[in-house]
Amino acid sequence: MSPSPISATPTASYEADPASVRRVLLLYSGGLDTSVMLKWIQDEYGAEVVCLTVNLGQPGEDYEVIEGKALRLGALECHVVDAREQFAHEYVAPAIKANALYGGGYPLFTALGRPLIAKLAVEHARACGCDTIAHGCTGKGNDQVRIEATIATLAPELKVIAPVRSWQMGREEEIAYAREHGIPVKGGTEAAPYSIDDNLWGRSSEGRWIEDLDHAPEDDVFQLVTRPELAPDEPETLTVQFERGVPVALNGERLELVQLLERTAAIAARHGVGIVDHIEDRIVGLKVRDIYEVPAAAVLLPAHDELERLVCTIHQNQFKPQLDHQWAYLVYAGLWWEPLRGDLDAYVEQVNERVTGAIGIKLYKGHARVVTRSSPNAVYDASLASFSQSGGLFSQSASPGFIELWSLQSRMAWRLRNE
Ligand code: ARG
Repeated sequence: MSPSPISATPTASYEADPASVRRVLLLYSGGLDTSVMLKWIQDEYGAEVVCLTVNLGQPGEDYEVIEGKALRLGALECHVVDAREQFAHEYVAPAIKANALYGGGYPLFTALGRPLIAKLAVEHARACGCDTIAHGCTGKGNDQVRIEATIATLAPELKVIAPVRSWQMGREEEIAYAREHGIPVKGGTEAAPYSIDDNLWGRSSEGRWIEDLDHAPEDDVFQLVTRPELAPDEPETLTVQFERGVPVALNGERLELVQLLERTAAIAARHGVGIVDHIEDRIVGLKVRDIYEVPAAAVLLPAHDELERLVCTIHQNQFKPQLDHQWAYLVYAGLWWEPLRGDLDAYVEQVNERVTGAIGIKLYKGHARVVTRSSPNAVYDASLASFSQSGGLFSQSASPGFIELWSLQSRMAWRLRNE
């Protein structure tokens, strides 16, 4: 069989002209799509392929197996990069400081990972003398936007090819192509699996029954988080210590950030915490349903948010969510390199200077609830807040005067409308 020919007329300036593709840096996961791509690029373009596989903490990968597979399928080289530290410090930590959630529920793990993956692709492409970068994203998702926007921003000299977007092979044809070309297909031809993406900040599943909005989640989709009905009968309280907005210790034990994220995920997952069934507005115009498993985020984001609100004033607390919202949208929308994000980060950093302290979160059968807070920077004075004490900075006799002026405009307006 011959898959549809490679597109002859590029739409965008960064799309490769097939005739000038000599050496391609392929973002390789070892899965069916990118394995078929590895062969297909060699055949269709007569080009050399260098593979890059990025470890962002996706569980259960065997990178030696992936590398071996790439080399067996004709890759010139296969580079495996452990980018977990960089991902945690430069991408996840800023997201925590910005309380980053898109659409009220998605902690952006994929959206945060793509700009780093694409940046690494640029670095490796340059180092290996590649003229083109290839990725396995489809034409319907956000990931193509994040990856291509990053490449076009950081490396205007590099071109892009996205075979899955152009070859019009379905899963059946891909499997046939794989068989024909000696590409091992695991799992055989049974029903298509879920479309998964994961890293240390979360896991998403799409496809199959998930596309039927009326279909409640089937049990087998949950591979990370224990279903709440199976979670332990005993609750567990986890204390997270933050320094300047970044989590640094769990239950008093200091941990490296990667380890802390993984440990938090394991504990929360055991208690069924972090399942999100999300309808999402993609930037390419589609509305799509995702099943997310985000145990670490489901604990650390509310803990950070709680601590931040404790150390900020009412005015800061009214303002920051607006910036956070914009930050999350830019990142979701593939504009990691947009200067506005840097501007927002400057404010976010400034606020997080004071976000130091500890939050206790009680985990129980799918729920995570803040139960304790402490911070040297809390804008809180127990004696002022107390019902049972009077005096000090707070003068109750000043309250009526405050209320009279505070309500003045509202009272005048009310009167005008009701006269
Ligand atoms: N909907 C999420 C996003 O747009 C997750 C995408 C998952 N990506 C994937 N290739 N399966 O960020």
